[in-house]
Amino acid sequence: MKALLIYDSRYGNTEKIAHAIGEGLAEGLGATGSVRVLPVGEAQTSQLAGWDLLIVGAPTHGSHPSPPMREFLDRVPGSALAGVKVAAFDTRTDMATLNGAMRWFGKFLDRLGYAAPKISSCLETRGGQVVMPPAGFIVKGTEGPLEEGELARATAWGRQLAANP
Ligand SMILES: Cc1cc2nc3c(=O)[nH]c(=O)nc-3n(C[C@H](O)[C@H](O)[C@H](O)COP(=O)(O)O)c2cc1C
Repeated sequence: MKALLIYDSRYGNTEKIAHAIGEGLAEGLGATGSVRVLPVGEAQTSQLAGWDLLIVGAPTHGSHPSPPMREFLDRVPGSALAGVKVAAFDTRTDMATLNGAMRWFGKFLDRLGYAAPKISSCLETRGGQVVMPPAGFIVKGTEGPLEEGELARATAWGRQLAANP
């Protein structure tokens, strides 16, 4: 099993989650598997064929994937992911930590949703077979750090992905 994970990250939290997922995946796949973790800036849409599993993750910006990831996904051609298993994750703010007017705004954003389900739908539209429900990992405020336990949860999510047939 060959797995490619592409992520975006502005402040470094999604990058940490991406590598933790990569570790879980590598652990779960064992010696017969290979895992590549790549920032979106280094990824090419022409590189997407030939992988068994593609995982895409981004920070949530305005309830959507961050702009660099949105631009990348927009460039993925129509059926580029046919026959590829796919999964998506995001990072997002813990709305409960917002205060005052921001708390109201957080409730509004919460209703508009997060990046991972949108990434997952996009990958599915391009022919990918979604093998895990989209996952969200929580950061404190905008710049982080990650909430306690999120790295371990990401590694466990990676292991679970590897266990998917
Ligand atoms: C421009 C901008 C818009 C954001 N919009 C949202 C949002 O709609 N919902 C949310 O949960 N978090 C939002 N955030 C918080 C980000 O999700 C958070 O900065 C990100 O998860 C941190 O990941 P990173 O360190 O990899 O950049 C926003 C952050 C920025 C900078």
